Amino acid sequence: MDGPSGSGKSSASKGVARALGLRYLDTGAMYRAVTWWMLEKGVPVEDAAAVEARAAEPVIASGTDPDAPTITVDGTDVSAPIRTRAVTNAVSAVSSVPAVRARMVGLQREIIGSGGIVVEGRDIGTVVAPDAPVKVYLTASEEARAARRAKDLAADPGASVTVTRAEQARRDRLDSTRKASPLTRAGGAHEIDSTELSLAEVIEAVVRLAKEHE
Ligand code: DC
Repeated sequence: MDGPSGSGKSSASKGVARALGLRYLDTGAMYRAVTWWMLEKGVPVEDAAAVEARAAEPVIASGTDPDAPTITVDGTDVSAPIRTRAVTNAVSAVSSVPAVRARMVGLQREIIGSGGIVVEGRDIGTVVAPDAPVKVYLTASEEARAARRAKDLAADPGASVTVTRAEQARRDRLDSTRKASPLTRAGGAHEIDSTELSLAEVIEAVVRLAKEHE
């Protein structure tokens, strides 16, 4: 399942995994974990050569239980710190570095293996798993996405809808225009616009698609 930030991918893909008894992988969390590590180490994240030079170092491990997704870097649980604005605003730069992507895609393919899994990200249907039996491209209007993101970030005093919207627009632009694996709808992907749909309706639509492919 691919789509821009705030389209509802995380809730929808976890819900689909639960409904179908499948594993779940949040690939955005992996890029966020690398970004958190780079910031911790003081790597200038806008400097692609500096990021590339250290791309092989962080050891990322992702759990695949949709009820308790976990992500660690060098053994430290980073589930909470990877959601801060500092990481969110730096992740596009780090994830646009080909050496970072190559490493994460390798790890993702290892985790995906041959078992059933719901994987969410930006390049899953295009690059990571082009042979996936069901591909979904989840979208929503910019307003709906910013409102959802602001709700996610309610605990953060700097995260008004206006600020969130501007930061999100910047991140979407970077994620969609970068050279390496930009966000784009994969061939054969079913596009679902979640603007007017409840979470339950999105999950139901994807589960229906998955059942049609059984
Ligand atoms: O889904 P998310 O907002 O947590 O993703 C964080 C960032 O990671 C996103 O801005 C772009 C990057 N990303 C990516 O480049 N490829 C993926 N498969 C998933 C995320």
